[in-house]
Amino acid sequence: MDAKYLGGLISRITKGAKVVIVSNREPAMHERDVGGVRIVRPASGMVAALEPIVRATGGTWVAHGSGSADRLVTDDKGRVSMPPEDPRYTLRRVWLTRKEENGYYYSLSNQALWPLCHIVYTRPRFSRQDWETYRDVNRRFCDTVLEEVEGGPAIVFIQDYHLALLPRMLRIARPDLTLIHFWHIPWPNREAFRIFPWGEELLDGLLGNDVLGFHIQYHCNNFMDTVDRGIEAKVDYERFSIFRGGRPTHVRAFPISVDFHQIGKDVASQRVEEKHASFIKELGDGILETKVFVGADRIDYTKGIPERMKAFDLMLKDHPELRGKVTLLQLAAPSRTHIEEYRNINEELDDLVDEINWRHQTEDWTPIRYLRAHHDYHAVLASYRMADVVMVTSLHDGMNLVAKEFISARADGDGVLLLSQYTGAARELPDALLVNPYDIDELADAMFEAFRMTEKERKKRMKRMRVQVQKHTVYDWGAKIFEALEGILPVREVA
Ligand code: F6P
Repeated sequence: MDAKYLGGLISRITKGAKVVIVSNREPAMHERDVGGVRIVRPASGMVAALEPIVRATGGTWVAHGSGSADRLVTDDKGRVSMPPEDPRYTLRRVWLTRKEENGYYYSLSNQALWPLCHIVYTRPRFSRQDWETYRDVNRRFCDTVLEEVEGGPAIVFIQDYHLALLPRMLRIARPDLTLIHFWHIPWPNREAFRIFPWGEELLDGLLGNDVLGFHIQYHCNNFMDTVDRGIEAKVDYERFSIFRGGRPTHVRAFPISVDFHQIGKDVASQRVEEKHASFIKELGDGILETKVFVGADRIDYTKGIPERMKAFDLMLKDHPELRGKVTLLQLAAPSRTHIEEYRNINEELDDLVDEINWRHQTEDWTPIRYLRAHHDYHAVLASYRMADVVMVTSLHDGMNLVAKEFISARADGDGVLLLSQYTGAARELPDALLVNPYDIDELADAMFEAFRMTEKERKKRMKRMRVQVQKHTVYDWGAKIFEALEGILPVREVA
């Protein structure tokens, strides 16, 4: 399955109806820079997955315009063709005030829904005023989508927890639209969900969809159960469908993935070569004489970054003979820094790096190289190339695409993936070294096992993981979602 095939499949299924993608985060942010404007691709698994699909299908992507130069490059409706050098789709930006962004994005989405759904023992915070702002902003997205579909037939593909009320709003305004929603984070069990004060309205919002997708079956089951016990609706476990208001919402698992072949090509590109060279320049070529343990994450308390550092520390304490022989290279993208918990984890990481380096470093070796910055796609690929081990130690993660990107990037067939059992990816990748990141001793043991793993064993595991990712790419994910639609809906013919 490739981009071309998916493009053909979607236009056959949609029969000419317009495809509109909607998300909070935009696929590209225009940022002011010395002497002009530069395009930044955000650190988002959601964007990484949707970008190749929207390029293949064309159409419009509606998202919050959050870049400092976004307004400079759009027309008076907030539209800009993307990518600028080879336009394939239209990006339509939704403008929000600082107050709206605070209430809807920083507060309700990321201090209430994010911790509620991940359950990593960070307490969610609720405020009625934020919920009202969230509702208003969902309404704003609704108005924008309605403008973009221009009264014609359309398939609206909504992303994530920022826009839970949008489907019902669209359904009421335009009963003929086909609505798909993909929830990129876990769905919690009903005990965890029931503390959410506006649960009924949120669930009703989501039940405006025709299809509601999660990464894994377990999250589908949790959602069915939450609705069954929480609100009035007919829950059909035979068909995995929910009827509320006479129309079904089909609940399905669609494990998201990456563009395996493109990553394989990009990792061999000149740009990655240059990034690789600049890493070596920055870190010193001594790093290549050590085994490099790479982490590449947004700085988020769900990602298990402190746990990973503590385990690395423990491995060095337990095995002092490893001093000078291993390096932890952590690429860390700052994220949501207006939120207290995110500022706290930034401080915690700074302290940990100082403390661990102080404890073990020698004159010519530093155990942890911590690069806090936004690293672009090519820099991340360069880090995978340098890696002997990639560590994904999330405390909870819907899927985690770093794992699948790393595997796609290793055409040499070598490298170890150390993977949290609490990621969606773990279900597909039993050949990774699966760990419980809450158990620092176990994590340290797994790191040591990765260090010692023979080339034969590494290659055997990597080969199987590559087959898995190659067979289930992001295009297969997109195709499955649209095929599900084909199976259950009569998509209206265009007159
Ligand atoms: O995949 C979950 C998600 O919240 C996406 O919706 C989002 O784009 C990504 O993580 C990064 O977070 P943010 O957009 O808040 O920077």
